[in-house]
Amino acid sequence: MCGIIGYIGKKDAAPILLKGLKDLEYLGYDSAGLVVHSPEALQVVRTPGKIVELEKAMGGKEYPGTMGVGHTRWATHGEPNKVNTHPHLSFDGKFAVVHNGIIENYMTLKNKLMQKGIEFKSDTDSEVVAHLIAHLYKGDVGKAVLQALNMLQGAFGLGIVSLDNPEMLIGARRGSPLLVGIAKDDLFLSSDVAAVIGHTSKVVYLDDNDVVFMRNDGSHRIVNLHSQEVQREVEEVEFSVEHVEKGGFDHFMLKEIFEQPDSIRNCTRGRLLINEGTAKLSGLATNIKELRSIDRIIITACGTSYYAGMVGEYMIEELAGIPVEVEYASEFRYRNPVIGPNTIVLAISQSGETADTLAALKESQRRGATALGICNVVGSTLARESDGGVYLHVGPEIGVASTKAFTAQVSVLAMIALLLGRMRRVSFEQGVEIAQAMQELPAKVQEILKLNDRIKDIASRFTNAPNFLYLGRHYNYPVAMEGALKLKEISYIHAEGYPAAEIKHGPIALIDENMPVVVVAPKDALFEKVLSNIQEIKARKARVIVVTTEANEHLEQFTDEVIVIPSTLSMLMPILTCIPLQLLAYHIAVLRGNNVDQPRNLTKSVMVE
Ligand code: F6R
Repeated sequence: MCGIIGYIGKKDAAPILLKGLKDLEYLGYDSAGLVVHSPEALQVVRTPGKIVELEKAMGGKEYPGTMGVGHTRWATHGEPNKVNTHPHLSFDGKFAVVHNGIIENYMTLKNKLMQKGIEFKSDTDSEVVAHLIAHLYKGDVGKAVLQALNMLQGAFGLGIVSLDNPEMLIGARRGSPLLVGIAKDDLFLSSDVAAVIGHTSKVVYLDDNDVVFMRNDGSHRIVNLHSQEVQREVEEVEFSVEHVEKGGFDHFMLKEIFEQPDSIRNCTRGRLLINEGTAKLSGLATNIKELRSIDRIIITACGTSYYAGMVGEYMIEELAGIPVEVEYASEFRYRNPVIGPNTIVLAISQSGETADTLAALKESQRRGATALGICNVVGSTLARESDGGVYLHVGPEIGVASTKAFTAQVSVLAMIALLLGRMRRVSFEQGVEIAQAMQELPAKVQEILKLNDRIKDIASRFTNAPNFLYLGRHYNYPVAMEGALKLKEISYIHAEGYPAAEIKHGPIALIDENMPVVVVAPKDALFEKVLSNIQEIKARKARVIVVTTEANEHLEQFTDEVIVIPSTLSMLMPILTCIPLQLLAYHIAVLRGNNVDQPRNLTKSVMVE
C-alpha cells in the first residue's frame, strides 16, 4: 500500500505533510511527493527514493500555503522514477491528485483523453484521474470530481487539490482506506491513522464511495457518488503517538519484538475467564449460536497471518475436534471452494486491508458462509466487512516484518480454540489449565527477551550464510515457516521452513557444512523424534541452531548453538518459540547492513493482487 496525508487549516502545510509522510513511510518508500496550494499555483515536489530525498529536494525553498497533500509510494504500475511519483498534475495545472489503489479501466480512459489531445507524462494508472477531473471541470469542482469518480473502475483512496479552490481539500474512497482526522482548527486526510494521531485522536473512517469535502474553516461534508449527503461517526482513536515512535529502539521491528509481553497481555486482557476455564470474545458474541453448530472451519490469510492460521488449525482441531483447513487467500479466491451450510470462514489479517484476504472474505460471503475476521487495525476493511470478529489490540505495527501481530494472532486463535473446545469436548479443568497457561505467557516472553544479546552473538556467526533451513514439528512446523519468512524478508538470505521429518524426502540433499539449520525442538511429546532428525542433519555436517526448553549434553552433542527458553503447553509453544527466531532474523539483517524496517521491494500492506 502507499501512504496519503493531506492537510487543510491555518498552519503551514508543507512541514505537516513531510512529517506525515515520515509516519507513513512503512507503507511505501519507493518514491514520495507532495503538493502545496500556494497563492498563485500548485507547488509540486517529487523524488524517487525515501522521504529523506524529498526533504533534500525541498531544502531551502519556500512552500507557502495552508493546504496540500502528500504521498509515499510502493510502486505497482510504472517504475519508481520521478514522473511516476505522485502527486500527478492535470494537463492544465489546475488539479493535483494522489492515489492509492488501482484504476482498472485506466487504459480505456487514457485512450479517450489522449484522443482529445491530452498528453500523459507517466506510466501510472493514477495520472488519468487528474486529467479526467480537469477535462470534466466547468467551474464546479465537486461536480467534476463526482463525475470522474463515477467513471472509475477499481480501487482508490484519493486526495485532490484544486487550484481554483484553495479553501477545499477533497478525499474519496473505494476499496482503499481513507480517514479524516479532526483537530481543533484543522483537518487531516490520511490512508492510515498513524499519520494523524500526533495531531488528533478524533477520526472519521470513510466508507466505500464516500467523497469528503474538507474546508479551511474546519468543517467537512461527506457525500456519496450521487451527491447525497451521508453521516459518518466521529470515532476516538485509542492509541497515542508513542505507538508510532521508536521509543529508544534502533528499529520499529525491535521495539515491536520487545513490546510482546505487553501486546500479548493487551490482547488477552479481559478475555480469559480463568474461573470458568474459557475465553470471552465480545466480537463473536452474536455468532455464539452459529459457533455451536459449525462442523468445518476454513482459515484464510497471507504471509505471517497464514502461518498463525496454521497454528490455529492444530489448536482448533485438538481442542474442539472441528475439521479446519488453512488456505492462502490468493488461492481460495480463485478456486471453487466447497462451503457447506455449517462452514465458517475465518480471515486473518493484521492490516485488515490485504487485497487477497478481503477478496477471499467476500467470496466466502457470496457463497453463504459466515465470515469472521481477526485483525489489528481498527476500522479496517476486514473489520467492517466481516460478520463478526476479534481485534488483536496490539497497537499499530509499523515494522514491515510482522512480529507482535503474529503472537497476538496465535493468542486470539488459542482463545477461539478454547471457546469452541469448551462448547464441545474440553473439560473445565483443561480449560482452566489453558487459560492459566495463557496468562503466564507475557512473563515467559519477557524471560526470552533477556536472551537478546546471546542471540545477537549467535547471529554474528551466521551473517554470511547464503541459505538457511528451518525445521519444526507439530505446533512448531508453522513456526519454522514463519522463522524462515522473517529471515528472508529482512536479511535477503534464502530460507525455507519444513516439517522436520520431511527433510529426508528431499531437502536433506541441500545439507553440507555450509548450511545452517534452525530446529525448533521444545521438550514435548515429539522431542525424541526431532532429536533424531537433528542427528540426521548433523551427520551431514550442518551447523545446527536449536531452540528448546531444556538443554542436555545429548542435545548439545549434536548442535552448534542451543537457545533455551521457558516451557508452556504444547499448543502455546509457538508464542514462545517464534521470539528467538524473530530476534535471530533481526540481528542477522542488521549485521548485514539492511534497513529492517524498510526491506527492499516490500510494503506493510499488500492492497493489490
Ligand atoms: C511478513 C509480513 C507479511 C504479512 C502479509 C499479510 O512479516 O508482514 O507476510 O503477514 O502480507 O498481511 P496482513 O496480515 O496485513 O494481511
